[in-house]
Amino acid sequence: MAEHKDVLISIRDLTKRFAAPGRKKAVRAVDGVSLDIYRGEALGLVGESGCGKTTLGRCILRLIEPSGGRIEYDGQVLFDKEEGIRAEMLPFRRKMQIIFQNPAASLDPRTTVGESIGEALDIHRLVKGREERQQRIEALMTEVGLDPADAGRYPGAFSGGQQQRVGIARALAVEPEFIVCDEPISSLDVSIQSQIINTLEDLKQQKGLTYLFIAHDLSVVRHISDRIGVMYLGRLVELGDSVSLTARPLHPYTRALLSAVPLPDPEKNRLRERNPMQGEPPSPVDPPSGCAFHPRCPMATEKCRQETPPLMEREPGRFAACHMLSLPKEGRDSAT
Ligand SMILES: Nc1ncnc2c1ncn2[C@@H]1O[C@H](COP(=O)(O)OP(=O)(O)O)[C@@H](O)[C@H]1O
Ligand SMILES: [Mg+2]
Repeated sequence: MAEHKDVLISIRDLTKRFAAPGRKKAVRAVDGVSLDIYRGEALGLVGESGCGKTTLGRCILRLIEPSGGRIEYDGQVLFDKEEGIRAEMLPFRRKMQIIFQNPAASLDPRTTVGESIGEALDIHRLVKGREERQQRIEALMTEVGLDPADAGRYPGAFSGGQQQRVGIARALAVEPEFIVCDEPISSLDVSIQSQIINTLEDLKQQKGLTYLFIAHDLSVVRHISDRIGVMYLGRLVELGDSVSLTARPLHPYTRALLSAVPLPDPEKNRLRERNPMQGEPPSPVDPPSGCAFHPRCPMATEKCRQETPPLMEREPGRFAACHMLSLPKEGRDSAT
């Protein structure tokens, strides 16, 4: 837990627009996100597919260039649209890494896994000589739960879970401080998902890593995350510590996401409040007016159709963007 609140990454009003093929308007993939990531925490980022999680993660690393806003890493400005700052990223590449959703696609099928881990060492000249290089590769493989004797094998000889371990070893090779874990288990068999999560959790503890942990499923992130951010159509709609956010969600969208998570106890499952999501998320090319969630929200009023609610602190450390939370208690009760 990040009790001391030492900010590692600060994001302000970050936006990313993509040109939409055959359309005049752009896709607003990330639409004004402000967020601090504390050193040593795992910040979970959830939301339905297409809400901008991957785009936000890649913008922070500047693997894709943001359209607007500001990003700071450890007090240094990586990007500021207004001030025209675009930092040289090479020194930061050692500190910030990413683990991809699809390990098979992120590994070269013609490069042995040892070699692909070695390449990460070479880029930043982290080892001297063949022997030290080989020792580092084997140590990294052991660290992520692979057999170093398999260093000479090709990715095709590995299971999905083992391939993801190679991806983790590659990210760790440069001894980063911060890792974007972009749905690292969503392409894997359910039976091995928790093993990979445990490995990521152990590595975080051992090395004091900071994670942005992306998933579309709240049940995956709630265990690994200190705090959780919930995205809807490019915007952050709720942010808070993961225990109280999952126990007592504030935003109606978070409530709907949570009610889609099955409980282990079937009886509790049957009894609890059902709040199923209506329909599909709207297109980020033409987001609805006002609060983008209003067409699917059981509480929506005229104000929700007209005004975009800002993300506001509702309780210490708990933020939500919802007009209905700003009403006095009586008003809120009569609106539900
Ligand atoms: N390179 C791209 N070009 C055009 N549109 C993109 C591109 N990447 C993502 N998008 C669009 O941006 C939105 C957010 O995508 P993404 O960040 O991948 O969401 P998520 O990771 O939450 O599923 C989607 O509407 C997606 O189609
Ligand atoms: Mg994604």
